[in-house]
Amino acid sequence: IKRIGVLTSGGDAPGMNAAIRSVVRTCAYHKIECMGIYRGFQGMIEGDILEMGPRAVKNIVNKGGTVLKSARSKDFMNPEGRQRAYQNLKKYEIDALVIIGGDGSFTGGLVFNNEFGFPIMGIPGTIDNDIFGTKYTLGYDTALNTVVEAIDKIRDTANSHNRLFFVEVMGRDAGHIALNAGIGAGAEEILIPEEDLGLERLLESLKKSKASGKTSSIVVVSEGDKIGKNVFELKDYVEENLPEYEVRVSVLGHIQRGGSPSCFDRVLASRLGVKAVESLLEGKTNFMVGIQGDKIELTPLEQAVKGKSKIDEELLRVSDIMST
Ligand code: F6P
Repeated sequence: IKRIGVLTSGGDAPGMNAAIRSVVRTCAYHKIECMGIYRGFQGMIEGDILEMGPRAVKNIVNKGGTVLKSARSKDFMNPEGRQRAYQNLKKYEIDALVIIGGDGSFTGGLVFNNEFGFPIMGIPGTIDNDIFGTKYTLGYDTALNTVVEAIDKIRDTANSHNRLFFVEVMGRDAGHIALNAGIGAGAEEILIPEEDLGLERLLESLKKSKASGKTSSIVVVSEGDKIGKNVFELKDYVEENLPEYEVRVSVLGHIQRGGSPSCFDRVLASRLGVKAVESLLEGKTNFMVGIQGDKIELTPLEQAVKGKSKIDEELLRVSDIMST
């Protein structure tokens, strides 16, 4: 391998820049070239590719988003698109690819590898933390801190006005952000896709909390929860059934994806980038680098895509006890 291409794909996540920097500098360290591919697979199809030397990634370790930009490419879902992408990789003499993204990006990478036998390595980058084979994905820790900071502020108003707040957080189909930020921010209840609390139990719990002397409450709602009502419908439902509550809704949205990465995400990104490049240089392909325990390990990409990242049962119990 003489030249590695790197791209970011899918939703951006804090720490992606630190990972790009790590890939570029690890290539330089091993005296091979690195090419930055812009806008994910779309840029690969359109030939939006530039060489990146170690100085090209200065001053980005602390930046959110991705300097390579990102996209969810529809054209890459077609064989013609992938063929064009392959031609471009050949044109630029790229021998292997590092894909920084989530499971959708890895699935695209696998299809590409199946068709052209092109060596690929995945680095998990998504705030959702929903990828099997890594305890943490890039951006998750930063997103948790952003959510906790936002809820701390909401708590001031909740407390001053004796209100109940439903705070909706991201996570697509996974409840990691909701559960961990919910515990960290002292939520009364946490609604996640993995465990449906049910409307009745939610009402019961809110009644109990009022009776126990609590004057304000925060309920963290994961966007993918299975309770069957969106946050605004939940507000109406609770106000109808528990008129003693004054309810407000706050949808945190994309602020959760932005901002300067935490130290944890920067260190993780640096470690994953080194392992990704060095694994490719050792001749490995179709793996994802991830953190397991305190070690950076490889997981076959197929497993990373198919496996499910599980919610920690202990956290569910802790959250229950904390709302006593
Ligand atoms: O996967 C990251 C994520 O932020 C999810 O939490 C959310 O469901 C989705 O992306 C939103 O995607 P978009 O920015 O394309 O609306």
